Amino acid sequence: MTVADLSKIELHLHHEGAAPPAFIRQLAHEKKMDLSGIFREDGSYDFRDFTHFLSVYEAASEVLTGPEEFRRLTLAILEESAANGVVYTESFLSPDFCGGGDMAAWKDYLAAIQEAAEEAETRFGITLRGIVTCVRHFGAETAKKAARCAADTAGDWIVGFGMGGNEGMYEQGDFAWSFDCAREAGLRLTTHAGEFGGPESVRDAVRTLGVERIGHGVRVIEDADLMHELVDRGTVLEVCPGSNVVLGVYPDFASHPIARLRDAGVAVTVSTDDPPFFHTTMRREYEMLNRAFGWDANDFAALNATALAAAFCDDVTRERVQ
Ligand code: ADE
Ligand code: ZN
Repeated sequence: MTVADLSKIELHLHHEGAAPPAFIRQLAHEKKMDLSGIFREDGSYDFRDFTHFLSVYEAASEVLTGPEEFRRLTLAILEESAANGVVYTESFLSPDFCGGGDMAAWKDYLAAIQEAAEEAETRFGITLRGIVTCVRHFGAETAKKAARCAADTAGDWIVGFGMGGNEGMYEQGDFAWSFDCAREAGLRLTTHAGEFGGPESVRDAVRTLGVERIGHGVRVIEDADLMHELVDRGTVLEVCPGSNVVLGVYPDFASHPIARLRDAGVAVTVSTDDPPFFHTTMRREYEMLNRAFGWDANDFAALNATALAAAFCDDVTRERVQ
């Protein structure tokens, strides 16, 4: 048994971003859509930088045209995650890609995703909970539709609200209405910050939006005062080292700040973000962290305990997946 065989808790996974390229190619074939431009010759997704990644991601999502596609996708994702030892995962679900923000359509998509999640729980022993996400570069008005969808379906299964997308566009504060709407519906909050934006984007996220978790957040390593603030607040970082390396935030695992953040007392967790895009899995993330920093079974047990405590599910679920 190696550290990569341990059970894992994952908190940061984008549903569309977890679609294997073969799955997307198969759907494109069935629907007679030409998506050849987004794949390399070896079949992997082809992108050169972050903004290009976002456009390839959106192009791939175009084949996910209805609830049935999301049912199939959810099963495929959870089978793969379970095969990598993941026992609990939270994934970002975007009403923008599930019916375009229309409430009735969103509920149909969600029903299909939940049906697949129940099947996966029985077949593969993995539990899924959903975080509704808005997409930053689609703007604040579009985000409001996502927030309304989130608020209307908040409960035991939809447990959070978040924001992904291009950090270079708009300010966190432009989305305050959406985060307030979600909070009032009882949802827990996370937002992407400190991935391509500097430490100030993380400061803004915790102070302006009141989020308790940050997607990535790794660039707080550049600001010692802010690191202390995060420790005091108990803010948890959803760190995705393999994603950061492929997107060029850091050149390699050895220079990634996750170990320095952890050693400074910041609560860190590990996730894959968009695993097939970044040629990674939870198993590989564990292997690479073991290799780069010598993290052993005790380190990973502590990491998982942090993740489980920071999971947005209820305590009954938390105890069951432990
Ligand atoms: N959406 C999917 N992956 C993302 C990432 N790494 N950063 C921001 N938005 C995303
Ligand atoms: Zn992400």
